[in-house]
Amino acid sequence: MSKIVFKDVHKSFEDGQKVLNGISLEIADGETHIILGQSGCGKSVLLKCLLGIFPIDAGDILVDDLSVKNKRTYSNYIKKFSILFQGNALFDSMTIVENVEFGMKQIRRDSSAVIKSIAQEKLLSVGLESRVFNLYPAEISGGMQKRAALARAIAIEPEVLLFDEPTSGLDPVTGGIICNLLRDTVKKLSITSLTITHDLKVAQFLSDRASILNKGQVVWTGHTDDMKNCSNDFVKEFYHASCVISKKTD
Ligand SMILES: Nc1ncnc2c1ncn2[C@@H]1O[C@H](COP(=O)(O)OP(=O)(O)OP(=O)(O)O)[C@@H](O)[C@H]1O
Ligand SMILES: [Mg+2]
Repeated sequence: MSKIVFKDVHKSFEDGQKVLNGISLEIADGETHIILGQSGCGKSVLLKCLLGIFPIDAGDILVDDLSVKNKRTYSNYIKKFSILFQGNALFDSMTIVENVEFGMKQIRRDSSAVIKSIAQEKLLSVGLESRVFNLYPAEISGGMQKRAALARAIAIEPEVLLFDEPTSGLDPVTGGIICNLLRDTVKKLSITSLTITHDLKVAQFLSDRASILNKGQVVWTGHTDDMKNCSNDFVKEFYHASCVISKKTD
């Protein structure tokens, strides 16, 4: 478990676009937090800043007492995380089981046989059958790929799990199944998790506490049930638009 603190985080790109404009947010130890926002508002950029993939221009990001900006402690900082990227990011040239083994081999000193057996156990725990272990990512469905990516993410025993649009590219039924799996996995591991999504239904299903991003800032944080009572115009618009879309697709 780990506490995450974003302190007045700013991030611009070379083209002058200011994507994050003073993000401040605290995520408690063991909390399941969701960041919501429209497409292009900077959710993935925020995750990449949290991971140190993009350097931040100002402010700080702390996980427990470690700062993303401290080069000396960065290797300990980054070890805390595992991420399910928006596009799964499985290695196409590796089989499913090799994908799960890959991360573990970087951090564990166990024999190949032990690593393989843990990888297989993780794949089974996310509902994948042994017949898919030696297939390549392109040979399995999108839902199975998400499961494999989740197995890879939990295999390295992170303190924080990050999910970037966990249901993107999936049909509603498979998306629901994956949401259930993510919720059960986070509960079972009792670790801190941060999910970013533009889908209010996903947010309400996965978590009690969420934040909404707009124009590079957090405009609301609270219990997902209280969002409908928020007086902020953007939050009201986001909530009502999400409800209309979900009625149309139900
Ligand atoms: N490497 C980069 N260089 C320049 N601009 C970038 C880079 N990465 C992201 N951006 C810009 O940052 C903005 C936010 O992008 P981001 O991918 O974070 O959006 P998002 O909220 O995750 O959207 P979606 O919901 O569609 O995934 C976009 O305008 C994008 O063009
Ligand atoms: Mg994104």
